[in-house]
Amino acid sequence: MTIHIGANPGDIAETVLMPGDPYRAKWAALNFLKDATLVNEVRGMLGYTGMWNGNRVTIQGSGMGMPSLSIYANELITQYNAQTLIRIGSCGGMQPQVGIRDIIIAMTASTITSPSSGVLREINFAPAADWSLLRAAVAAAEAKGATTHIGGIYSSDVFYSERPDLDEQLTRHGILGVEMEAAELYTLAARHKRRALAILTVSDHLQTGEALPAEDRERSFGDMVEIALHAAFTNS
Ligand code: HPA
Repeated sequence: MTIHIGANPGDIAETVLMPGDPYRAKWAALNFLKDATLVNEVRGMLGYTGMWNGNRVTIQGSGMGMPSLSIYANELITQYNAQTLIRIGSCGGMQPQVGIRDIIIAMTASTITSPSSGVLREINFAPAADWSLLRAAVAAAEAKGATTHIGGIYSSDVFYSERPDLDEQLTRHGILGVEMEAAELYTLAARHKRRALAILTVSDHLQTGEALPAEDRERSFGDMVEIALHAAFTNS
C-alpha cells in the first residue's frame, strides 16, 4: 500500500494503462482484460489488474491534471515497479487537419509549467515519448485503420483557457492537440528510466467548437485501449 494506492505489493503489473477517468479504467478492464480484479479504490481512483493475450496489465485511473497524474505515476513507478505507462485519454484538437474522433499519438508534450518545473528549474526540458512504444502504437493504429496524427501536443493546467493568444501560438507551431497530463508522465518516465506514451482521442476542437457526442466516446476509447495494449506488448 502507498498513500494513494491500496494495492498490495505484486498486485500491480509492470504495464499500466492510465485513463484520466477512474470509471474508464473500470470499463476498459471489464471489457478488455481477462480475470480483471479491483486492486485500488482509494479516493475512488479505481485500478484493476488482469490479463491480455497472456500478459499481465493494470489499468489505473490518473485523475485530471498533472498534479494528480504525478501522484499516481510516482507511486506506480517507485513503489510498484511499473515499467511501461501508457496514458489513454482525450484531447482538444488544435489543427484544421485534426478531426473529432481522430487519434493523436504524442511524440512530445510541451508545457508552460508542470509538477516537475521545480525540479528542472531553468531547463526547458522536452518531454518525449518512448520511441519503441511510439513506433508500435503507430503500427497498431494503422493496422486498425484509425485516422492517426503523430506529433507534438500541449499539456495544460487549465481546461478553460483564458489565453486565445497562447492557443494561437501553439497552433502556429504545429501542436496537434491539448490535454492535461502527458508532459508530467513523460518527464517522470525520463527521470526513472521507464517507458511512457500518450494516446489520445480528439473529443473536442478548439477552432471549430465541435465536440464528440457522448455515445461515440465509448467506441473511440475502446480503440485507444486496443492500440495501447498492442503497443505495450510489441517486442522492440
Ligand atoms: N483542453 C484541455 N484538455 C482537454 C481538452 C481541451 O480542450 N479536451 C480534452 N481534454
